[in-house]
Parts: sequence; C-alpha cells; structure tokens
Amino acid sequence: MMAGQSLVYSPFATLTTLSMLFLGTRGTTAERINGVIGLDEMTSFNPHLFFKSVAEDLKPKYRRTTARAVDQEGSSFSRTLLSDESRGGLQRFFKARVQEIYSAVAETVDFRQKDMLLRHMSGDFPRDYVDTLKQLRSPLLSISRNRYRHECNSAATTYGTMQFAQGVKRSGGSQSPASSSVALPSVSFRSGFSTGFSKALDATILALPGSTSNVSVFFLKPSPDTDVSTLETHLRNQSISSVLKLFPDETVRSAYTEVQLPYFTQTTIYNMTQSIRRLGLQNLFEPNVANFNGLQDSSTSNLYLSEILQTDSFAMCGGGELGAARNLPFRSFSTNLVKHSVLATDLADGSSSSSKLMRRNRRKLAYRNRSAFDAQQVQDSKLVFDTPFLYLVRHNPTGMVLYMGRFVG
Ligand SMILES: *[C@@H]1O[C@H](CO)[C@@H](O)[C@H](O)[C@H]1NC(C)=O
Ligand SMILES: *[C@@H]1O[C@H](CO)[C@@H](O)[C@H](O)[C@H]1NC(C)=O
Ligand SMILES: *[C@@H]1O[C@H](CO)[C@@H](O)[C@H](O)[C@H]1NC(C)=O
Ligand SMILES: *[C@@H]1O[C@H](CO)[C@@H](O)[C@H](O)[C@H]1NC(C)=O
Repeated sequence: MMAGQSLVYSPFATLTTLSMLFLGTRGTTAERINGVIGLDEMTSFNPHLFFKSVAEDLKPKYRRTTARAVDQEGSSFSRTLLSDESRGGLQRFFKARVQEIYSAVAETVDFRQKDMLLRHMSGDFPRDYVDTLKQLRSPLLSISRNRYRHECNSAATTYGTMQFAQGVKRSGGSQSPASSSVALPSVSFRSGFSTGFSKALDATILALPGSTSNVSVFFLKPSPDTDVSTLETHLRNQSISSVLKLFPDETVRSAYTEVQLPYFTQTTIYNMTQSIRRLGLQNLFEPNVANFNGLQDSSTSNLYLSEILQTDSFAMCGGGELGAARNLPFRSFSTNLVKHSVLATDLADGSSSSSKLMRRNRRKLAYRNRSAFDAQQVQDSKLVFDTPFLYLVRHNPTGMVLYMGRFVG
C-alpha cells in the first residue's frame, strides 16, 4: 500500500499496544491477544514490566526523572485510549496500571467534540488529514505516538547538502533507468561509527551508537546491483537481524574515514485496523463479541475497538541539541489513511510492474559495471547514503527492533 514511499514503523509499539489492550480485555478476547503476542511464553517474570524496561532503555538515565519537558524532545512511546463517555466510565485500577507501565492515558471523551480528538494526535501531520482524523469513530479509540530522536552532538558532526538519487517514482511513467537526483540537507560524521559490508545482504551497514548504550541505530545501503525492496525481503525472513546480531563480525570491514547521510525526519501515520485484524484479532473490533471487561466500569457497556492508529517518527539529529547555524532537516510524511473528501485511488498498483522492470534493467546494467564500482569503492573512503536505504533502531540486550524505516528521498 505504501510501496515506493519513505516510511518508519515501530513493531515494538504495535506489540506493546496489544499487550496494553490485553490488560483491559477478558475471556476469549484476552486469550486471542495472548495467542498472537505470546505473553505467556515470555520468560521474564512479568512481560509488562519487561516492555517498560525496554522503553526506558531509550532514555538516558539523567533524564528519566525530569519528566515532561524532556519527553517533548526525546525518544518516547506514548499511548492514548479514548472511550466514549456515553458507554460509562473506565476502571480506576486499569487507568493507573496502564499509566504506570505504558505511559498511557485512558479517558472517556465526547466523540461529538471533534477538536478534542485532534488534541490527542501529535501535531506532526499535514492539514489535509485534519478532516480524516475528525471522523475517528466511537466507542473505543487507541492512538499511539512513538518517536526516536537520534542525537548527533559530537564535535565531529557537520551539516551540509548532498545529491540523492531518489527511488523510482510510481507515477513517473518514464522508462529511463536513470533515477532523478535531488539536493538534500545532509549530516556527516568523522568518528563514532562502525561499518561493514554484508555479503549475505549485499549491503553496506553503518552502525551508530543510540541514545543509550542499550540502543544502536543501523543504516543499510544496498549495493548497486540490488535495491531496498530486496533488502526488505531479508528483513521479513530475519536474515537482517541475524547479520546485525553478529555485527561487525561476518562482514567485510572497510576503513571509511567519513560517512554522509541525509539529514531528515520521517513521520508515518498508520491506520492499523486491517493489520491487526489480519493477525487474527478480528474479535477486538466486533460489537457484542469483544470483551473489554477489564477496562470498563460496567460490563453492560459493550465496548469494542473502533479505531487503532499508530504514529511513528524518526529524526536524524533531532535530539534537541541546539546547533547554531544549521539548516532544517528534510521532512517527509506518509500514511495509509485515506484523505477524507478526496477520491481515493491507489496509484501504487497500476505502475508496480513497470517499476519492477525498471529495477531489473538497472540491476542488469549495474551488474555489468560491478568491477568498475568495486575499484572505485576501494579508493573512496567516504561512505555516502545517496540512494534509497533502510534503517533500524535496535534494543541491544534483547535484539528487539524498536523502529524500522525506509528512506527513498
Ligand atoms: C542498559 O540495560 C541494562 C539492563 O537491561 C541496565 O541495567 C542499564 O542501566 C541500561 N543502561 C542504560 C544506559 O540505560
Ligand atoms: C531470506 O530471503 C533471501 C531473499 O529471498 C534469501 O536469499 C535468504 O537466504 C533468506 N534467508 C533466510 C534465513 O531464510
Ligand atoms: C481504518 O481502516 C478501517 C478498515 O480498513 C476502516 O474501516 C476505517 O474507516 C479506517 N479509519 C480511518 C480513520 O481511516
Ligand atoms: C558503466 O561504466 C561506464 C564507464 O565507466 C559508464 O560510462 C557507464 O555509464 C556505466 N553504466 C552504468 C549503468 O553504470
């Protein structure tokens, strides 16, 4: 659905939203969630506290205590559950628990007051989606907002601009294998990174230390004879995480003296309904079937999930450090929400076969020139992320992927 676009997604946020909902469900609804996310199988004594501690590992210790102001800038996972007030109140015990464990706010609201719904979304979306968000339906709405801000405050960091060869545009129609090049703001590092080339993935990997020693950020640049969509199949079958588990072992070391990346922020809003249903959790959404008795005050109010949204964002060098003379990052937004009031046609499908063909052609050509490329790489000691790439934020102690993203320009 979002083929060919830049996006960021937090699998950890989906997992923890489901485990939070689990606390409010009973009966088969709870059993189903447990069956999908396997809370029972987790070896830690309490999976909810385990998730809480993973989320806390993103925050540098000295900041954990200074609450709100820093949360505005730093990395965080936050959740809101809004229940229609006409269905009765929420259990105080549930509210306190999800607040404590998941930093979640659960409250009853009047769904007829549309502006109130918007207040619970982050301001990070284009105005065209205001009307869509005002249509969010009653009786139970789950919103999660998650962001990772990668801090770049070392003295060896410089800002500039770079040329980026954008991904194949789906509406382009051009058969030329040459992709269009755009100028983007960039950031360069001269120290504090490690790199390696993975033959298994056919990609160059860059690792940067994350916000704490428990987090790492990886950037994966496919070599010229492959592309991001091939890398994504490696992501699905876990071969990326097995390479990263051993990183930098099992990769060909390369002595780059400098790396250059786009200086960007990415925000993606997902309507998760369809994906959650596909996990086998249809009954969360069914009136008279869903059982939210762990959440509501009265068992007669018959709550069921009406909407589930997730907003994820990643900012390169967005840690709130105040660089003096610095240009603005390249901002990109994507969503699978349908714009209200605009006739929705999915452009992605029509052109996918032609773009596949273009990719294949380009790969063939690049393959022929491979030795030329290799020779060039040896003498070039600057690694530049100037073609579409993937990135991942990983919790190191568990290997869990907190965020994954695709940048295509
Ligand atoms: C990293 O995680 C370990 C255990 O998971 C914890 O003891 C430590 O304080 C964490 N370090 C940071 C910097 O958050
Ligand atoms: C994952 O998929 C890629 C591409 O289809 C394949 O080359 C690789 O062997 C697979 N790895 C595993 C562990 O299944
Ligand atoms: C989310 O997706 C569901 C299922 O496709 C749809 O019924 C619902 O209207 C969507 N919500 C929004 C806000 O787009
Ligand atoms: C292949 O290399 C030649 C000579 O270095 C160059 O002119 C040509 O543009 C390259 N082709 C591709 C597809 O990179």
